[in-house]
Amino acid sequence: MKKIIAANWKNNGSKKFIKDYFDYFLKNLVSNNEIIIFPPDLYIDKLNHYRDKDNFNLGGQNMTYVCDDVTQTSGLSSDMFIDNGCNYILVGHSEVRGQYTACNEAAKSLYVSNDLQVIFCIGESADAKKNGNTQNVLIKQLEDLCKKGNYPKVNPKKVIVAYEPVWAIGTGNIPKIDDISFIHRFIKTYVSENHPFLKEKDIMVLYGGSVSLKNAQDILSARYVDGVLIGGASLDAEEFTKICNLKI
Ligand code: PGA
Repeated sequence: MKKIIAANWKNNGSKKFIKDYFDYFLKNLVSNNEIIIFPPDLYIDKLNHYRDKDNFNLGGQNMTYVCDDVTQTSGLSSDMFIDNGCNYILVGHSEVRGQYTACNEAAKSLYVSNDLQVIFCIGESADAKKNGNTQNVLIKQLEDLCKKGNYPKVNPKKVIVAYEPVWAIGTGNIPKIDDISFIHRFIKTYVSENHPFLKEKDIMVLYGGSVSLKNAQDILSARYVDGVLIGGASLDAEEFTKICNLKI
């Protein structure tokens, strides 16, 4: 079954890194999965030059909310990402949520995502998990995704949620596979019951947090898992290519 395999490079990369990476990646990629790479904004155009029709997709890691009649230094719009070859945008990654002022709230990014396919990131902290609050925290985050008023321009045809427990990001710890399936099912049910436009078949859920070549096959084979969002391990061209080439 075709899965989404997404690479979140965060603030990593250089021109030399990209050349070496793609020398390996394009030579060894034999994948039917849908691959998305989220490089730092400054390198999106560089990666765009390595693209063949459908070997991989590109996305932005964050977008600025700018009111129509306001200028904003450092602002980036959905049109600019699209102009540089992107068709995806990450919204609400835990490393971005709350880092900026009101301009970067997840809901506002939804409002200006236009033709970009949003990957909406949610996840509970270690404390929330310890206190048995995981589902409450996820519902609070999903409320933005499900609010009709957050989609004024275009109605999305599908929704992609990335479930990334904050305590699993970059730590080497992952939830039990059954727990991942349980939470993914919970997300699909909640969104299908609360989203103004979408049915359950239109909702995909990716898992993120310490995905590596060692655990990717098990995670991708789990029920209700439509793909993975990979940080650290996606920076190793060989490891990422092998994950992309997995057959599920
Ligand atoms: P990680 O990061 O794979 O390094 O845990 C995932 C993410 O933050 O998206």
